[in-house]
Amino acid sequence: MKTAQIDTYSTINWKTIRNQFPVLQQEVNGKPLVYLDNGASSQMPQPVIDRLNAYHSNEHANVHRGIHSLSQKATDAYEATREKVKDFINAGSLEEVIFTTGTTDSINLVAHSYGRTYLKEGDEIIVSQMEHHANIVPWQMIAEQTGAVLKVIPMDENGNLMMDAFHAILSEKTAIVAIIHVSNALGTINPVEEIIEAAHAKNAVVLIDGAQSVPHTKVDVQALDADFYTFSAHKMCGPTGFGILYGKKELLNKIPPYRGGGDMIDKVTFEKTTYNDLPHKFEAGTPPIAAGIGLGAAIDFLNEIGMDNIAHREAELLEYATKKLSAIEGLRIVGQANQKASVISFLLDGIHPTDAGTIMDKEGIAVRTGHHCAQPVMDYYNIPGTLRASISFYNNEDDIDRLAEAIIYTKEFFV
Ligand code: ALA
Repeated sequence: MKTAQIDTYSTINWKTIRNQFPVLQQEVNGKPLVYLDNGASSQMPQPVIDRLNAYHSNEHANVHRGIHSLSQKATDAYEATREKVKDFINAGSLEEVIFTTGTTDSINLVAHSYGRTYLKEGDEIIVSQMEHHANIVPWQMIAEQTGAVLKVIPMDENGNLMMDAFHAILSEKTAIVAIIHVSNALGTINPVEEIIEAAHAKNAVVLIDGAQSVPHTKVDVQALDADFYTFSAHKMCGPTGFGILYGKKELLNKIPPYRGGGDMIDKVTFEKTTYNDLPHKFEAGTPPIAAGIGLGAAIDFLNEIGMDNIAHREAELLEYATKKLSAIEGLRIVGQANQKASVISFLLDGIHPTDAGTIMDKEGIAVRTGHHCAQPVMDYYNIPGTLRASISFYNNEDDIDRLAEAIIYTKEFFV
């Protein structure tokens, strides 16, 4: 994603930043690791690891339920993350920031809670051809239960959504539009502003899956006017098992809790239970406290670099990698959208992606192979899967050179 270069860009020492990621300093199969599977999960820098260690060593207690000092300390640290998330995505209030276990959980919450409450037979849910499974299957489940109908925005050969088709599908029957902001399989950056505006004109509610966008560019949920926006900590230098559902307060107030248990209640009797206020209404049970605190540290880390700088660096690396890989004979890039994030899906003539990935792993290169949890994308191209290099700001040109060398070695291996 390319944004205007800001004043601090030239002063950033990317090597120093990379050195803060201990996992990148190792050898895999006797070769220095080149980690290019950031779309699946990014790595954690030392300050995040240190924060997790400090919490586990000195601060652990359950949150929201103890009068004792340790519990209050844990609660303060955990709730500080809500404040950081609010600022990071420019949510309107803390009540609009719901803690979940990740993007999948966030989408399921909206599908099950909003969907089951408001969808009726004949209503339409619009997704796109390039959704990953987490933004397809929950909607299919709800459609089956409610009689709603799933509609799909097609894409073209380059991996651009066909916006004319979207506008044609959109109608008064459209109740929900659920769209991936950045495609994990192709890297396409979708025109979500246009989608949200058009959907709102038909009174449809819009969920944007930001799992692959929030880690890579500045996202402002109020400027976008998204109704719901979802993302995961582990793709933005934080721990696994934690994620965010942003929702507009008036919508979150209108929908019932999704999971029942401790923390999400106000008063429980066998006759009737009343629920807690936002945001806790949606947060049943003991949460992944450490992971939540870790996300706070990850946001501090990203803010220190600056999201505009991160976006700019990744755009540079994408350009470098696209040139380098395009020059390799027999390599086909799958997904060449007009607007792309730093993801390159590719195929090698006559070599199955899994076989190629196995050889590249022997060279110390970590790329993902397969359908990337987006089987409809692979069906569209009539391929079993791709190899995917997903690049982060802590990668560098040397990583890309090593990737290119490993691809050439792989091609020679299979001759
Ligand atoms: N959706 C994640 C990926 O793209 C898991 O790898």
